[in-house]
Amino acid sequence: MDYGPAPEGAEVAVEWLESHGRQFGHFIGGEFVAPVEGARFETHNPANGKVLAQIAQGSKADIDLAVAAAKTAQAGWWQIGGYERAKAMYAIARLVQKHARLFAVLESLDNGKPIRETRDLDIPLVARHFYHHAGWAEAMADELPGAEPIGVCGQIIPWNFPLLMLAWKIAPAIAMGNTVVLKPAEFTSLTALLFAEICRRAGVPAGVVNIVTGDGETGRHLVEHPDIQKIAFTGSTEVGRIIRRTTAGTGKKLSLELGGKSPYIVFEDADLDGAVEGLVDAIWFNQGQVCCAGSRLLVQESVAERFYAKVRARMENLRVGDPLDKSVDIGAIVAQVQLDRIGELVRIGVEEGADMFQPVGCSCPEEGWFFPPTLLTNVSPAATVAQVEIFGPVLVAMTFRTPKEAAELANNTPYGLAASVWTESVSLALEMASRVKAGTVWVNSTNFFDAASGFGGYRESGFGREGGREGLAEYVRRTGMLPVAKPHDQDGRDTHGLEARATVDRTHKNYIGGKQTRPDSGYSLETDGEETARGNRKDARNAIEAAAKAQPAWAAQSAHGRAQVLYYLAENLQSLGDEEAVRAAFQAAARCDKADGQTHPVPMKALCYTQNEPVGTIAIICPDDRPLLALVELACAAIAMGNAVVVVPSESNPAAAAGLYRVLDASDVPAGVFNIVSGLRKEIVPTLADHDAVNAIWYFGPAEGVADVERRSAGNLKQVWTGTDVPPIATRIQHAVQVKNVWIPYGA
Ligand code: NAI
Repeated sequence: MDYGPAPEGAEVAVEWLESHGRQFGHFIGGEFVAPVEGARFETHNPANGKVLAQIAQGSKADIDLAVAAAKTAQAGWWQIGGYERAKAMYAIARLVQKHARLFAVLESLDNGKPIRETRDLDIPLVARHFYHHAGWAEAMADELPGAEPIGVCGQIIPWNFPLLMLAWKIAPAIAMGNTVVLKPAEFTSLTALLFAEICRRAGVPAGVVNIVTGDGETGRHLVEHPDIQKIAFTGSTEVGRIIRRTTAGTGKKLSLELGGKSPYIVFEDADLDGAVEGLVDAIWFNQGQVCCAGSRLLVQESVAERFYAKVRARMENLRVGDPLDKSVDIGAIVAQVQLDRIGELVRIGVEEGADMFQPVGCSCPEEGWFFPPTLLTNVSPAATVAQVEIFGPVLVAMTFRTPKEAAELANNTPYGLAASVWTESVSLALEMASRVKAGTVWVNSTNFFDAASGFGGYRESGFGREGGREGLAEYVRRTGMLPVAKPHDQDGRDTHGLEARATVDRTHKNYIGGKQTRPDSGYSLETDGEETARGNRKDARNAIEAAAKAQPAWAAQSAHGRAQVLYYLAENLQSLGDEEAVRAAFQAAARCDKADGQTHPVPMKALCYTQNEPVGTIAIICPDDRPLLALVELACAAIAMGNAVVVVPSESNPAAAAGLYRVLDASDVPAGVFNIVSGLRKEIVPTLADHDAVNAIWYFGPAEGVADVERRSAGNLKQVWTGTDVPPIATRIQHAVQVKNVWIPYGA
């Protein structure tokens, strides 16, 4: 028996649109205001291409007004206290629930996604996000002592989850006492404007939440505004790179949630029918316009044909059609330009040799922007469709033979947002969860999200997390930490430098791959009468190669094992006569097996736990102050968490580091884990910042070098941490790891 249509009425949303005369301004300082330059553009219903409303095109002047309003409101919003902020956010959550139907219908009309999804997923998760973060506003003083808001946050969101992405951005920001200027995507501004009304009704003070609509140009003005202290962006990797470059050197805090090409891995022992249902959710949810969509199906060869047959059969039953029809699985694509892009990529896929399947029984409406569910098999791992984010209902399938091959294929893209692993073997599931480079891994499941669990990427999928305790870190500054006293002797001279100089090794070498190596240039550098190696680009590249080669095995050592190595290093450091450096190594050793994750109390039957994983290869540019101590503090913290390091010691006092070579020689630190290239920063740092095998840079050099490092890091979107004083060990450890969330649903 076939399903009949079960349409949800659009009246509630149409009424709301009419009440605004189908024309909107920005929401600034608690009021809807007309755009300063008067420009507007149309927003369409993707299901029929018809105009829904006129949206204001934000200009620089509009952004200026919004940022000014946010700036004025910020101190008051912070000082009002966590309890008052919590009450306002609780009211938002309640009002979202109260108007859930209006939100759900409006979202479906504007975005084209099925009402089933907006009603059952987007809107409930939005409410959950505000409830959860209302709790964090209340708990902030106790749970995050010393934390303070950053100030005014600029937030730019995409069109695939318009209201949900708004919630992910606004809830943690305002909970922590920041104020925001948010720019929705140009295709989907309506629910953000409805949300603005909700804020007013919830009693959120004027200026705390500001919404400026517009396109990428509006976003650019927001990113460039000097009074913005933090940018949070979700969208394409391409725009993420632009924003990284624009904000370089401005001191703006940045988090990026970018694209993905997430693997969906099915082993031969998996519950294949369950895996097929999961796949429907992974790739056909929201028409595949999901950053973490399971868009690359990897199936074990022994079951591949059987599995494909099941997938094809299931595809025949998918219904494409009116998003407001409650029995529709796949709605409309957000815009003509996206539809064209999907079609073009599929054409390229077929041209490159893929076999295409589209269900015959599944027809698309003639009107509107629709694309049928599509399966591409016989795809090579290097094919365009296997590498590029299609962002549509298109599944690309490949096979593998062994778990090792599955992990290699899974990691064979520059992205690292999410992965699904299907197997009945707990041991294999957890092994794969560890091996896959992704910020979220779902075991025998897909697309679980919750406010208590952080979400974000590894590698070119971006950095920073949204949700969970780790998400809060994106919206606070820490001021409660005591500055570490700088040890000076009676005459004000830096005792560490002096002591280290007393034991200086005069061989003028670098330390690369576990060996003292002559600098490529053959030159040395004379500073204050001391000579050290003058490393260059080639030395930096050699050190990176050595680090990248050594890092996986170092990370695979047990935490206990790494602690033993660092304790022994600390012992040997005593020979340099610097007690604080010894202590720094001890502190790092002590943390090796303490950086545990959490299990999140998510509201479904699932074990959701965080796993702190090393970032990879970290380049560390040391400060001039306290040269030996700072080097040991930074490098040992990084190493403790399973990273390998390439360290550029203080330029004005590189000799302090040279004393370490003998210590490292006598230590058990595996070759390549701890590399030192001394010389002039300008001759070494650009290579480190440009290099794709460097995953993060900790830059503690002179402030004038920050901009260049941040700009160069946009290439592979490496994480950049800059500072002047070395912070306490807990902060160093936080930067030495990236968080992976693993979800394992259960139920008898
Ligand atoms: P986009 O990255 O251009 O747009 C995302 C947001 O950034 C929008 O609000 C847009 O107005 C804004 N924006 C654009 N240029 C900007 C700039 N220079 N400065 C500041 N803000 C700017 O993504 P687009 O063009 O809508 O989609 C293109 C592709 O990007 C998709 O096919 C998909 O592959 C990917 N994408 C990924 C998303 C994700 O969640 N990871 C979301 C949206 C798109």
